[in-house]
Amino acid sequence: VIELLLVAITAYLIGSIPFGYLIARRKANVDITSIGSGRIGATNVLRTLGRKMAILVAGLDLLKGITAVLLAGVVIGHNYILVGDYHVSILTAQVIAALAAVIGHIFPIFNHFKGGRGVATFFGGFIALYPLAAIFGGEVFIIGAGLTGFASLGSIAGVAGAYAVMIPLSLHSGLPIEYLFYSLIGSTIIVIMHRDNIQRLIAGKERSFTEKAS
Ligand code: G3P
Repeated sequence: VIELLLVAITAYLIGSIPFGYLIARRKANVDITSIGSGRIGATNVLRTLGRKMAILVAGLDLLKGITAVLLAGVVIGHNYILVGDYHVSILTAQVIAALAAVIGHIFPIFNHFKGGRGVATFFGGFIALYPLAAIFGGEVFIIGAGLTGFASLGSIAGVAGAYAVMIPLSLHSGLPIEYLFYSLIGSTIIVIMHRDNIQRLIAGKERSFTEKAS
């Protein structure tokens, strides 16, 4: 139990590193939480600092999810740990770690709990857990965002796509059910985190990712 708790807390702390905020402060001395959508993810960094910095932030945020999963794998080095009477598999621990990193990214303790919407960190977790789902979801994201100009729409489609593709793979192809839980819980959190985007999309007032923010 202690191991699992430590992994989850550490993963949350890793997720809490507010790369978007730190890079915007350092490069342009701006508070990204008061610009554009106010989120610290790559989309808002793109609006504020341009493409290069957005790619850097996306990469670092992906890395948080990847690191959390790897960390769980290293700490829970054997196949399972006992929590009370339950066997918790290493995969479950990795899923818990990845979700903790996503929560950290959304509510970072190091940035007054003002974070992003969790998309890159979620996909980072998937890269380490099951890369095919990340590739598929990532492509849906790129197509969705590219065609519409709205990163939010791409994100919602991307995480929903990753979940959709996991259903047949988990239920019929014998893929571990943990991956399905990860995509279900992660995509649900992320869609909830886009509720203001959804309202703006419906009202025709959503910010595009090319809009310059100031
Ligand atoms: O990943 C975040 C993106 O989906 C939306 O960001 O800044 O347009 O609210 P933003």
